[in-house]
Amino acid sequence: MGAKVKVVEIGPRDGFQNVKEFIPLDVKLHIIDGMVEAGFKKIQIGSFVSPKAIPQMRDTGDIAKTILALYPEMEFFALVPNLYGAKAAKEAGLKEITPVMSLSESHNMANVKRTCAESIEEIRKIREELPDLKITQDIATVFGCPFEGELPVSQLVDLVGKLHDLGVQAFTLCDTVGLAYPTLIELVFKTIKKAFPGVEFNVHIHDTRNMGLLNSYIAMLSGADSIQAAIGGLGGCPFAPGASGNTSSEDLIYMLNKCGFDTGVDFDKLLVTAKYAKAMIPDGNFSGHQICIPEKPEVQVQE
Ligand code: COA
Ligand code: ZN
Repeated sequence: MGAKVKVVEIGPRDGFQNVKEFIPLDVKLHIIDGMVEAGFKKIQIGSFVSPKAIPQMRDTGDIAKTILALYPEMEFFALVPNLYGAKAAKEAGLKEITPVMSLSESHNMANVKRTCAESIEEIRKIREELPDLKITQDIATVFGCPFEGELPVSQLVDLVGKLHDLGVQAFTLCDTVGLAYPTLIELVFKTIKKAFPGVEFNVHIHDTRNMGLLNSYIAMLSGADSIQAAIGGLGGCPFAPGASGNTSSEDLIYMLNKCGFDTGVDFDKLLVTAKYAKAMIPDGNFSGHQICIPEKPEVQVQE
């Protein structure tokens, strides 16, 4: 077996948040069960956000309570936009949260209605008031903003520095609308890892321009500590015009397993859950090749 690669399933948050029709709790739970059964060790189960902003996420507390009791060994985590959400996550029993802020002022304002400085202040309060919660900081629009375009890498180094000074030790660099390309991914990861040795940097990719698998692969080769992906290629931020789905987790797992990496995830089991999700969420923006182009030729390879 080859090198270990950590793939983090984020469909129950980034995927579901973009679905208008409310997905029943038992369907959400069945999909998360399937992800655990397939072999994921870390899953983002939802977000603690204003139900006015994203009604689909309103049952994240119920999800947390149910699955934490079922799978105490799993790393379940949720996104939060502020201290209010962080407190709700802790109350639901979670040990890890993902506060979210954007690298660009305009997307931060569109997404969480705060300036970047106000979001940093919110993260300071979370650290101070809830020191036991592990923080993995999501930074949105790292590889480009729908309003401001591409941003200089120095701006990212500056922001990570401010958050690191507050005690944040883990980050996820997000391509919120899918503007990244391989050489930019390489530049960002090499620069940030050199500037902050020993700090955790994960990657979160959207597949808007059909570069999701490639960008994820390049991030992995450039030292990303984990790769996020969403079942069925669901995903998208309702406050970022042009955002499409994340890299599909079953496509990513298929590729990495075939390449001999040790993802710990069983492709066939994951595919069953991806197909279930597609059947149960009729208005989901599914884009994964394994489930959207179902007839794959059975090629017999001569060894
Ligand atoms: N969870 C639930 N309710 C929350 C909340 C949270 N994390 N944060 C604030 N609220 C409630 C407040 O209690 C208040 O309720 P009230 O009207 O009954 O008094 C109301 O929301 C407004 O609070 P305020 O702090 O003024 O929020 P806001 O209107 O400025 O909105 C956010 C800011 C961040 C709460 C909201 O924009 C949000 O939840 N955005 C989610 C963004 C997101 O998930 N994007 C996709 C993922 S990147
Ligand atoms: Zn996203």
